[in-house]
Amino acid sequence: MARESVADAVRLPGHLARPLAILLEFLVCGEESATHAFGDSLIRSSPEDEHACLAAMARDEEVHAWLIHQWLDRLGHAPAEVDRMASRRFFMRLQTRDRALHFARIAGLDTSVCRLLSQLVQSAALAPYEGLVSGLARIRSDEVRHVSVSRAFALRLGMSRADLSAVATDIEAQLLTLMRPAEPAMRLLTGSGLRIGRILHGEMATT
Ligand SMILES: [Fe+2]
Ligand SMILES: [Fe+2]
Repeated sequence: MARESVADAVRLPGHLARPLAILLEFLVCGEESATHAFGDSLIRSSPEDEHACLAAMARDEEVHAWLIHQWLDRLGHAPAEVDRMASRRFFMRLQTRDRALHFARIAGLDTSVCRLLSQLVQSAALAPYEGLVSGLARIRSDEVRHVSVSRAFALRLGMSRADLSAVATDIEAQLLTLMRPAEPAMRLLTGSGLRIGRILHGEMATT
């Protein structure tokens, strides 16, 4: 799967490669920080029965970051639209010593990532590049699992469902500000007029 997706990234024409690189630049910062988020510090402070689960999520994020870097290397240089430092700062700010809040933020963030990825997986423009689309779909399915695991942990640690939605809404708003420069890229790839704010809110493009 990785090899096919990388071959697709090589043959993607410039008018698709550039917008995809812009969106992936945002995602890769999240993947890198997620790797740290599930890394040693959280595992150390967690009860033993959660360790395997957290370690598995950390491994997923490492694979995601590796795969996205492979694609980005083939798609060309980092586009000017992306302020990597701002993205990194945003993702680092999501980390907290409060484990319940931490899991709630991961659930909120990964929900947003799933929604963004769903748009790419269903993009008619990307459909001929099946290896790439299945790579994106693989990341999305891992993120779906992360959402349910993180939600379950946050609830177990005392968060209510209302708390979880409030945290998710806050993340959605911050992500929207961060990703505003990616609006034209998303429009180009999806061919729909759906704004990123509405995508993050859970609406799906109908075109
Ligand atoms: Fe991920
Ligand atoms: Fe994740």
